[in-house]
Amino acid sequence: MSKVVFSGIQPSGNLHIGNYIGAISQWVKLQDLTESIFCIVDLHAITVPQDPKVLRDKVLEVAALYLACGIDPKKSHIFIQSENPNHSYLAWVLNTIAPFGQLERMTQWKEKSVKHEENAGLFDYPVLMASDILLYQTDEVPVGEDQKQHIELTRDLAERFNKRFGETFKLPVPVIQKETARIMSLQNPAAKMSKSDNDPLGTINILDTEEQIREKVKKAVTDSDPSVLKMHEHMNFMMEEHQGIGNLLTIYAAFKGYNFHDAWKENSDKSYQDFKDGLANLLIFELAKIQKRYNEIRNGEKALRKILDEGRNYALEKSSVTLRKVKEKVGLI
Ligand code: TYM
Repeated sequence: MSKVVFSGIQPSGNLHIGNYIGAISQWVKLQDLTESIFCIVDLHAITVPQDPKVLRDKVLEVAALYLACGIDPKKSHIFIQSENPNHSYLAWVLNTIAPFGQLERMTQWKEKSVKHEENAGLFDYPVLMASDILLYQTDEVPVGEDQKQHIELTRDLAERFNKRFGETFKLPVPVIQKETARIMSLQNPAAKMSKSDNDPLGTINILDTEEQIREKVKKAVTDSDPSVLKMHEHMNFMMEEHQGIGNLLTIYAAFKGYNFHDAWKENSDKSYQDFKDGLANLLIFELAKIQKRYNEIRNGEKALRKILDEGRNYALEKSSVTLRKVKEKVGLI
């Protein structure tokens, strides 16, 4: 039997190249080898305020972007989280074994609860995420580095449940790509590229225009020392000491399908300006292909809805098997 892969993205803000490089590009490769399930996690998105009309549209935008980026509905199942009520049901059950102290230690909670008004949903966010994953008896969760802590919590909750009620959940492992686990902001290379960044220049969105991409790459922070590109070929050193330029090289490598070292070799004799021109051209070329497919998919929304309906039916059926077991174990039937 093939491995089960599950992952998801929140339909909040705009999807950016960090999401693409860190998550979606891995999914595209994994879908050939595994039973792949990709979710648009709208219940997670409402843990911070969303405009209802915008949210509805963003859900379809993310679904269309999954497809445009190469998720193939013949190989993968794509569905909207809120269309499968089993997720929130299991989250409630897992809440009853989730330690408060561990939830308080979640980095995302610490960051988001100062940015937004605190609410119980935001605090409980990782338990819902654990439910997403555990409902499908998931083997692997391909994500960026920032989600690792949540997957560790997922494993802890699964173990706790299994111990208390008997073997029920498989323990999932995070799959995090080494070199592209954390794409940084173009303006503040010490912070990760994020959908909620207040500075629009820090983030390149998948649907950005050519002009926006050029401007953002041009204004990206590099280094005051002009010789860094020539001098340093080691990724770890670059990401510690010269993060701005190291991050741009990482992005270059990802879109070329190179490793870091090859990206460095190709650009080491260039000035920052020439390197940036090359990077902007590469991003514009690659993102235009995705954008073209995206527009076609959005123009044929009936077909998209059909894919999401099929995905929902599949998700409901598969997750119901696990939820039935859970109910039996807990004494709910
Ligand atoms: P989200 O929506 O913030 O991000 C989606 C995916 O993109 C990755 N990512 C990055 N990777 C590299 N560099 C970056 N700068 C960067 N920014 C984001 C994230 O690691 C993630 O893989 N909690 C999740 C959504 C979720 C989920 C799940 C994921 C809900 N349920 C179940 C996996 C399995 C989140 O907020 O991702």
